[in-house]
Amino acid sequence: MKKITIVIDGPAGAGKSTVSQHLAKRLNYVYLDTGALYRAIALAARQKNIPPTNSKKLYELCCQCRISFKKMKGKQKVYLNGKDVTSALRIPPLSLLASHYSKLPLVRKALLRHQRKLGEKGGMVAEGRDLGTVVFPHAELKFFLVASLKERSKRRYLELKDKKHSLKQIEKEIQKRDQQDRERALAPLKKAKDAIEIDTTTMTIDQVVSEMYKQVILSTKDFK
Ligand code: DC
Repeated sequence: MKKITIVIDGPAGAGKSTVSQHLAKRLNYVYLDTGALYRAIALAARQKNIPPTNSKKLYELCCQCRISFKKMKGKQKVYLNGKDVTSALRIPPLSLLASHYSKLPLVRKALLRHQRKLGEKGGMVAEGRDLGTVVFPHAELKFFLVASLKERSKRRYLELKDKKHSLKQIEKEIQKRDQQDRERALAPLKKAKDAIEIDTTTMTIDQVVSEMYKQVILSTKDFK
């Protein structure tokens, strides 16, 4: 089967990460979590006390940051300058911070290049916000996942092991982030015209992955 580029966009908690990883595994494709790139830049900026307003320092930071992925025991690990930052990237305050920094043109420009380089060989399932519209507009298959705010908040709450944040707090954070991601001027969260929308609110992971797999078979059958 020809290896294609598959992009999965959508708001936080719509199920992108889980289904992207399952689909990539089923197809033996590379999985790319583009949100982790924005989270890593936000973490690095926080560690170095660089505010979003300091463009010069932020530009230098984007040039210096080495962000890489490694699969360990079936789980994806994210490294920032050689250090495992996987857990640090997932805490709710960092999610919002990543959303703040992702509004900045110079951050998006630096990461656009990085993402395209990672995806140049195809055979990839990538998840994010602007992949179908901006980063990989020519991807052979595009999905846009949605789910109710209640369901998305519940999923995030269950995902966070420490339970330091209440369900209500998570719901507020997701709502704020959604609004920020949708309303930013550059590359906002938006469904590409040619993307297939799937509402995952009442679907299981297996159901979503099966639906996507069906679409992959349909879109690659002419290339065999
Ligand atoms: O997918 P995520 O929740 O890990 O993403 C964290 C933030 O990064 C998200 O709120 C907005 C930003 N982001 C983006 O602007 N573009 C992407 N392709 C992926 C993430």
